[in-house]
Amino acid sequence: MSSINIKTINQLKDNYSYLLYNHSGDASVIDPAESFPIIEYVKKNSLKIKDIFITHHHKDHTNGIEGIIKNFPEVNIHSPSSRIKNTRFVLNNNDEVETQINSFKIISTPGHTLDHIIYLDINNKILFCGDTLFRLGCGRVFEGTISEMHSSLQRINEIEDDLVIYCGHEYTLTNLNFLENVISEKRLYSHIRRKIQNDLSISGKSVPFNLAEEKLYNLFLNQESEIGALIKKELKLENFGLFKYLRDKKDSF
Ligand SMILES: [Fe+2]
Repeated sequence: MSSINIKTINQLKDNYSYLLYNHSGDASVIDPAESFPIIEYVKKNSLKIKDIFITHHHKDHTNGIEGIIKNFPEVNIHSPSSRIKNTRFVLNNNDEVETQINSFKIISTPGHTLDHIIYLDINNKILFCGDTLFRLGCGRVFEGTISEMHSSLQRINEIEDDLVIYCGHEYTLTNLNFLENVISEKRLYSHIRRKIQNDLSISGKSVPFNLAEEKLYNLFLNQESEIGALIKKELKLENFGLFKYLRDKKDSF
C-alpha cells in the first residue's frame, strides 16, 4: 500500500478535521466543520479532494461540506444518513469503502448520536472516531442510551492495541482533570499527565493518540485495566456500573 499522509486541521474552537492524501495528490476529508482552512491547505499543496467522510450529523462535523463542494464539485460525500445534506453514499455497519488513498471498514457506534459511525483502516492501523472516543474520555450520550454507548466503546476496546486514533475534539486536559478528580490515587495518572503536557507544549495538540495507552488509562473505554479494577473495588461497581457512574458524573464536571 502506498504511504498515506494525514494532516490535522484545527476547526472552530476545539474541533479537528483530518485530511488524508497520497503522493498523487488525491485527498479525503474527515468531518469538515469549516471549509476555509481545509481548502487553503489543499490549494497550497496542489491536492484534489475526492471524498468526504462524515462520522455523524452534528453541524460541527458537517458544516464545511458545502464550501468543499464549491471548490470540488465532483467530491463524493459518504455519511451514515441520507438526512446529512449532499450525501451520495450512505454507510452502514461492516461496509467497506475503498478510495485511491486507502480503504475503510465502517463500525457503527450509536450513543453520542444514533447515526454515529467510525472509520477503521486496519492496513494503516488508523481509526477516525468522531465524537465516540476522546483521549481519556468519550462523547456525551445525546441520542442513544448509556448502554449503547458502552457497547460502542467496547467495539473499539476489542481492536488490536497498535492503532493510532484521530478523534473529533481536543478535550484531553479536561478529561484528565476529571479522571484525577475521580480516582483517589492521582499518582496513577502522573505519567500520562507528563506525556500529554509534553504533546500539548510541542504542537498544541494531544491528538492523535494510541489505543494501547487508552486501554490502560481511559476508564470510559476499558474498565478491566488495573486502574479500573482499583476504582471498581473502591466504589463497589461492575464494568457497566462504573461506565455509567463516570458518564453521569462527567456530564456535570
Ligand atoms: Fe458531536
